[in-house]
Amino acid sequence: MATLNLELGERSYPIFIEAGAMNNAVRLTSFIRGKRICIITNDVVAPLYLESLKSKLAGFDVDDVILPDGEAFKNLTSFELIIAHLLENEHGRDTTLIALGGGVIGDVTGFAAASYQRGIDFIQIPTTLLSQVDSSVGGKTAVNHPLGKNMVGAFYQPKAVFIDIDSLKTLPVREFNAGMAEVIKYGILGDSTFFSWLEDNIDLIKAGDENTLASMIETCCQCKANIVAQDETEAGVRGLLNLGHTFGHAIEAEQGYGNWLYGEAVVTGMVLAAKLAVAMNLLEVSDCRRIEALISTFDLPITAPETMS
Ligand code: NAD
Ligand code: GLY
Repeated sequence: MATLNLELGERSYPIFIEAGAMNNAVRLTSFIRGKRICIITNDVVAPLYLESLKSKLAGFDVDDVILPDGEAFKNLTSFELIIAHLLENEHGRDTTLIALGGGVIGDVTGFAAASYQRGIDFIQIPTTLLSQVDSSVGGKTAVNHPLGKNMVGAFYQPKAVFIDIDSLKTLPVREFNAGMAEVIKYGILGDSTFFSWLEDNIDLIKAGDENTLASMIETCCQCKANIVAQDETEAGVRGLLNLGHTFGHAIEAEQGYGNWLYGEAVVTGMVLAAKLAVAMNLLEVSDCRRIEALISTFDLPITAPETMS
């Protein structure tokens, strides 16, 4: 088990990385101040983990909101649905929201927590690789607007993050690979030892080896925690975490949310960024090829959609 800490003064919080992390009732409930909990999840994750999680919360008054699955539902309608549920059920400021799901659920739940009655506590239980290595850490919360991705949101930190490696066992391979996009990002943006480690451990990662995954996720979360601790609201160094994302967001929006997975769009964006860097004499061609090779190993795209210029 690894415990990291994101150091943000009085808004600091722990990140627990462990097989079975969401089943540790004592630890989980130690982060809940009041008596009421509302779990936000979706119709894919709920049948897998919702009842089991609820059973760990004995003694609390627990209800839930089950959103439709997918990036297309990371929108103001889902946000409004959560807020309406909280109001209709008379939740107060002492309610804690739990985000149970991938990055979509984490982002919309975090934004609802930031907004409801000017801010209530929330806890992240990320269940995709992408959300475990990236979106659950750092407090960026948002929903999409028809005119742009993540255009409505807030910087708002969770009280704790519980990364349960066991939840990756039910994740479809395509989603796992999309999560590798953000993993590879950390290797490219400043940790060449980690990049080489990834190249050396491809088989163990693909086989879902528990120790390998735990170590990989820990390295990513530590990298992200270090950067966010220096620059919580992206005035400078946090921009590194957006490597390739400008291209990626354009691809995702242009192709229609959900057709290209977020991670697939981002990883292609990273290759485009690498190629641009080569053209600007900022990156060796051999390093660009290594990036493309590692990305391809995980069956991820390395060229932009043909329909885009
Ligand atoms: P996602 O939340 O859509 O999850 C991917 C799919 O996996 C969904 O169908 C989901 O229902 C399913 N799923 C989740 N957990 C599962 C499990 N354990 N077993 C089986 N299926 C499971 O997508 P994602 O890739 O997790 O996250 C992408 C989102 O994260 C995007 O909206 C992106 O903008 C956001 N994001 C945010 C940040 C941030 O800092 N806040 C960073 C990176 C990405
Ligand atoms: N995923 C980019 C960030 O958290 O800043």
